[in-house]
Amino acid sequence: MLLLHSIKELIGIEEDGRLLLRGKEMSEVQTIREAFLLIEGDKITDYGKMTAERFSALKARIPAKDQIDAAGKLVMPAFCDSHTHLVYPASREIEYIDKIKGLSYEEIAKRGGGILNSARRMQEVSEDELYQSALERLDEITKMGTGAVEIKSGYGLTTESELKMLRVIKRLKANSPLEIKSSFLGAHAVPMEYRGRQSDYVDLVINEMIPMVAAEDLADYIDVFCDKGFFTVEDTDRILNAGMKYGLQPKIHANELDYSGGIQVGVKYNAISVDHLEFTGDAEIEALLNSDTMPTILPGAAFFLNMVYAPARKMINAGLPVAMASDFNPGSSPSGNMQLILSMASILYRLTPEEGLNACTLNSAYAMGISDIAGSITIGKLANLLITNPMDSLAYMPYYYGVNKVNQMIIKGKLQ
Ligand code: NIG
Ligand code: FE
Repeated sequence: MLLLHSIKELIGIEEDGRLLLRGKEMSEVQTIREAFLLIEGDKITDYGKMTAERFSALKARIPAKDQIDAAGKLVMPAFCDSHTHLVYPASREIEYIDKIKGLSYEEIAKRGGGILNSARRMQEVSEDELYQSALERLDEITKMGTGAVEIKSGYGLTTESELKMLRVIKRLKANSPLEIKSSFLGAHAVPMEYRGRQSDYVDLVINEMIPMVAAEDLADYIDVFCDKGFFTVEDTDRILNAGMKYGLQPKIHANELDYSGGIQVGVKYNAISVDHLEFTGDAEIEALLNSDTMPTILPGAAFFLNMVYAPARKMINAGLPVAMASDFNPGSSPSGNMQLILSMASILYRLTPEEGLNACTLNSAYAMGISDIAGSITIGKLANLLITNPMDSLAYMPYYYGVNKVNQMIIKGKLQ
């Protein structure tokens, strides 16, 4: 048992059992001032005002060592980071310099840099090395407020290396305190040796990789980079269709580089989320409005690559839900700091602090299929909690950007 008391403000309470928030609902954030919260095992079992009668009984009964005084601090749900590539073999700061000098993401990719560069390095690194470096990154993001994370393969691009990445994610699931989901992203880029015969690579993904991934139960979702210069709508259609036969729900990269048709094909296959969305127009918004797919924006990638920003405001005003995630990866977003994403949500996308919080907690939990167990302060959900440094209001979180404002993290009921 763990009792948090004297909480200045308990933020992000969801009592109506909603699994996502759409449009205007995104600006709703329920809070309680001068609150307590009780954890039993790995779950939230009670919360309320300190003036409640049952609080004094709890305070008297629970040993002092199991109580946390959160005076002056805010307590909110830990971030859910629903899109990362944090299992990777090496950083890529050389390309970063090329980018500063003016090369575009697509130009770097054409020269065999980018994802293919990571795929080359992936062949050389052992499963243990991959595992250790990823574990360190998980530790890093936990300290910055993340309590659940989705991780993709996609730097393998051979059957063996894709399986290696997914096995590493499986080990992370077993050993990390974080709640982890995995996505198979064999169709992340076309390997050099398949240039000019892309459909042969798609065949490999469909006929060899997907069955092996499914046989070892290595993935929760299937991902495709459906965009200009990468995989076409037809490729994506074939891959998602094949994945569905093995029970793999889509969760795809779409419309980062162009109006690629990725959003529509994702919706067609009932994707749990479509991610990036820089190129989202009226037709895409219409398709999403008639779906259960979570539109997910990745501010870190658009910022780092200096690209156009997805029309988040327009999407929310149209009644859509929006999630935000870090896209933590060595090429287009070398940061897993969700506090920075929260700041970008308001600075770059004009989301209010409340909308930003919902985008990074309940809606991003939905985008990784865990909003029934995480993403809000709700009785029965996992006790994945972020305790802030002393501060006056939620708005201070995105406002005072660039430093870590996490004081303590609780993951699955345990103080980290
Ligand atoms: O989400 N857009 C495609 N894939 C990654 C980039 C990965 C890389 O450059 O290594 C992304 O941004
Ligand atoms: Fe990505």
